[in-house]
Amino acid sequence: MKKNNTKIHNLSIDEYDEINNPPPAIVDFDNILQKAMTRRSFMKNSAMFGASAFVLGSGLNMLSSTDAEAAFSGLVDFKPIKADTNDDITVPNGYSWEIVAKWGDPLFTKGKWFDHYTRGTGETQELAFGDNNDGMDTFYTKDGKTIIAVNNEYVNRSIIYDNRGTKLPETADDVRKGKAGHGVSIFEISNVNGKWEIVKDSKYNRRITADSRMEITGPARGHNLLKTISDPTGTLSLGTWNNCGNGKTPWGTYLACEENFNGYFSNTDPNADVPPEFKRYGISTKDWGYAWGKFDDRFSWDLEPNEPNRAGYVVEIDPLNPSSTPKKRTALGRFKHENAEVTLGKNNEVVVYLGDDERGEYLYKFISSRKYNKNGDNSKVLEDGDLFVAKFDDNGKGKWLPLTPETTGMKSKAEIAIHTRMAASAAGGTTMDRPEWVAANPLKAEAYVALTNNKNRGKKPNAGGDDTSVNGPNPRTNNQYGQIVRWSAERGDHASSNFKWDIFALVGNPAVHKGPNAGSKNITKDNMFNAPDGIKFDSKGGLWIQTDGKYSNSGDFAGMGNNQMLYGDPKTGEIKRFLVGPNEAEVTGLTWSKDYKTMFVGIQHPGEKGNSIWPDGPGTAPRSSIIAIRKNDGSRIG
Ligand code: FEO
Ligand code: CA
Ligand code: CA
Repeated sequence: MKKNNTKIHNLSIDEYDEINNPPPAIVDFDNILQKAMTRRSFMKNSAMFGASAFVLGSGLNMLSSTDAEAAFSGLVDFKPIKADTNDDITVPNGYSWEIVAKWGDPLFTKGKWFDHYTRGTGETQELAFGDNNDGMDTFYTKDGKTIIAVNNEYVNRSIIYDNRGTKLPETADDVRKGKAGHGVSIFEISNVNGKWEIVKDSKYNRRITADSRMEITGPARGHNLLKTISDPTGTLSLGTWNNCGNGKTPWGTYLACEENFNGYFSNTDPNADVPPEFKRYGISTKDWGYAWGKFDDRFSWDLEPNEPNRAGYVVEIDPLNPSSTPKKRTALGRFKHENAEVTLGKNNEVVVYLGDDERGEYLYKFISSRKYNKNGDNSKVLEDGDLFVAKFDDNGKGKWLPLTPETTGMKSKAEIAIHTRMAASAAGGTTMDRPEWVAANPLKAEAYVALTNNKNRGKKPNAGGDDTSVNGPNPRTNNQYGQIVRWSAERGDHASSNFKWDIFALVGNPAVHKGPNAGSKNITKDNMFNAPDGIKFDSKGGLWIQTDGKYSNSGDFAGMGNNQMLYGDPKTGEIKRFLVGPNEAEVTGLTWSKDYKTMFVGIQHPGEKGNSIWPDGPGTAPRSSIIAIRKNDGSRIG
């Protein structure tokens, strides 16, 4: 990507991030490079990865197995499919797919059918499924209805504003449309004659957008850093945006995670000095082409300096209560949240694993103060608890380091909740290769994280100046393929402070490379992929892996084809390709019908650079969509 002749509307969200990634603060480059070099030659000379050779080598059998896992039977068999570059969905023989919902589909009868020419207005978008669907989950009512809650991460400016010459928002209504394309869509779906469809006007149907009212809860509620002109109490905020991965709680609520929230803020003075707390989060004087600040002062941080502190959280939403107010959960920290994987400790503590998707940022864990109460009220469980950052040692062991005033030098829990990245740096967490989704194994106290890639590994510190030399779970400089790392909680208790870890898959291209970039043994010419991102377990303990990688199918990525979804067996390490997406799309978001006979999969940003007509065909706008996959014999998938 050349910076100079880049068209703003043609950039994917990752490319924006690369371009806008703030330069490092004061760092000793020579020192850091030197360390990386020393480390690299150490690794070269010590059987592949030095310390992590043990971790990889003994890899797949190192973490002990449970009885439940010994009985793991995995997915009903399918024949893995080949990589392809078709502008369509490919699934294995014996499976079929259909569209459930597409960007712009109305959720209410008063909405209008999607207009491929204008691509909608502010009003139509507010009544319709948002753009760029990402994390999602299904919820079931007592009377048998299926409700889907799904994030609409961002809008593809070049697609949604194709009606404008600049392909960017120009008017107030363009911005209204853009804001309404974001947030969360909640709607009922029903299976009519074997086909899933939106139930228009269902009482559950709801759009939560960048302007919806929400409550700020937890340690940062009411803190001075959260007070604004429109909310001098610091307890209420408007909207959620850039909701990437998600979570689902055992008490039936939905968690929408705010990721690249920074890209929406600008300053009326493009040359204004950016304070270090903003730099750490990638906030600059220019937004990423959304133009919200042009029509809404709260997105200009010179006019509303604390507004950026009110984003970057996990938002809890009750999808079965359409009049409920979404709650921003500051106790879970402020960073570029990917997903929120909720599980329980042995004493019913609610444990939430959280990744911060930025080069060289951290992996976190939250443990609630209140216990989960199966038959009681859990509405305050995510309000208070302890936050930890992961420290991986090279010997295959690791620790959760508490983020407290003592370990971070910060004044209060509130400050840690707001400036979590700085807190994690101070506590000494392990810098990671862009932590995306975390998935907890339902059969044992073990969790996996997708580390998608990191071109800065071993080359450049993170935005806080922390050293990002290669380390055990992040063993390659200029990591362009990614890896999936997993850990097993001590004593089988997710609430414990210690863990053992190994690398489940070091992703690579064995057709192009030898050595580290060929990947681990379970990556072959037949299943190779790049940039693991969405990961989720099915009910039987099978691990589904979705990718958001390079789809050039050439050079280092030759033979990998389009972005895809694969199925991994945690016990044997086997990985098989299950689905390939259309052109220039990412596969992200996964959930199931209550009977597990339908798997819902998200297809995001087809044609993000202008080269897809999926799913509606010639002369139409490409549209992010949710698809439903079924096995032709009607049996369960996972
Ligand atoms: Fe929105 Fe980190 O993916
Ligand atoms: Ca993602
Ligand atoms: Ca990604």
